[in-house]
Amino acid sequence: MGTLHVLDHPLIQHKLSIMRDKETSTMKFRELLREIAMFMGYEVTRDFPLTYEEIETPLMKMNAPKLAGKKVIIAPILRAGLGMVDGLLTLMPSARVGHIGMYRDEETCERGFYYYKMPKGKDRLVLLTDPMLATGGSACDAIARLKADGYTQIRLLCLVASPQGVKVVQEQHPDVDIYLASLDEGLNDKNYILPGLGDAGDRIFGTK
Ligand code: PRP
Ligand code: URA
Repeated sequence: MGTLHVLDHPLIQHKLSIMRDKETSTMKFRELLREIAMFMGYEVTRDFPLTYEEIETPLMKMNAPKLAGKKVIIAPILRAGLGMVDGLLTLMPSARVGHIGMYRDEETCERGFYYYKMPKGKDRLVLLTDPMLATGGSACDAIARLKADGYTQIRLLCLVASPQGVKVVQEQHPDVDIYLASLDEGLNDKNYILPGLGDAGDRIFGTK
């Protein structure tokens, strides 16, 4: 089963609490999401392989560690996943960026893709981003689509998740590690995460 990483760093928890507050402005919400995504990027890259290259400091030669391996792909689930891209790019400016457009009918809960564009390199690590992991349906469908397309290494980065959402992803995609800022209590009857932070897309883009 994929590992669940809940990033309980005090700075992340503090920033997330401000995001949850319904009085927090769109501008602040967006800024905090970007900052937390950057911290999450620090954790999700922790096991990246290093190679050693000889360099010369002003004082002597040394074998210096440098990142090995291919550049990663950041793949946001639209819309809300877009809010995590800039923070991750701050840490990994050369990363490639894909886009996975998904809609979810709030009445019928039916889901589908309206856009899918990924960079080349099926052997690259894909960091799939979406602030909210509620029922887990969107994340599972996006992961299935990536796998069907040939991507084999996928990590899921979400801000807030329900236990149900985590369980579904772990059952359907046991090879995918999940990174969260918070594992929340559950879902309400409209499949919103409790206590959650409301509709992430609306709060990022000011559409309500
Ligand atoms: C939200 C969220 C996830 C999905 C989570 O997107 O960003 O993609 O719902 O729900 P699930 O785990 O039950 O599938 P939404 O459909 O509201 O679209 P938006 O990002 O365009 O606002
Ligand atoms: N999508 C959101 O934006 N928020 C939730 O709580 C659940 C799904």
